[in-house]
Amino acid sequence: MSQPEPATPTGTSSGLDRREFCACALAVAAAAAAVSCGGGGGGYSNPAPPPPPPPPSPVTTSETKTSMLGQPSGTVRDYTTTASGACPLILGAAQGYYLVRDSAGIYAFNASCLHQGGRLNTTQTGFGCPCHGSQYDLNGTVTVGPAPVGSVLQHYQVSESTPGGVLVIDPSKPVSATTRLT
Ligand code: FES
Repeated sequence: MSQPEPATPTGTSSGLDRREFCACALAVAAAAAAVSCGGGGGGYSNPAPPPPPPPPSPVTTSETKTSMLGQPSGTVRDYTTTASGACPLILGAAQGYYLVRDSAGIYAFNASCLHQGGRLNTTQTGFGCPCHGSQYDLNGTVTVGPAPVGSVLQHYQVSESTPGGVLVIDPSKPVSATTRLT
């Protein structure tokens, strides 16, 4: 007559219970990781990219084509802003625009320095940046750094608001640096 096998002891000290405990702990950890890593729709899921900024608004000038073409070559009209300060040290800062008349016609370009976004001033030969001394010629080409020498400020379309009406600079319409309104 065989002896009955001793009953398996119960309690947390048994090997079986430790395995069960470990399996349970792993399952809980996996569930927590799934939630924290986006499995539940929250946690560290990648945020949606910010929406693109609205296109810059056109700038209505106080000049007509006739009045501007009646000015001598080298005439500059200032449509810059003081909103962001002269030296915000933010490349591409919104510093407004210059409207220029040269021997070939009328054009406009960005007044934000190509170094770190300083607001350009007019000089005797073109434009200069008060922040670190970059110089630009009348067409907006860098002649003295630290802005990259030879690079050119972005030019924008200039057109008449109505036939014979005031000129409008449209920053949403970049054009080449040789474009002129005549
Ligand atoms: S921001 Fe214009 S020279 Fe530095």
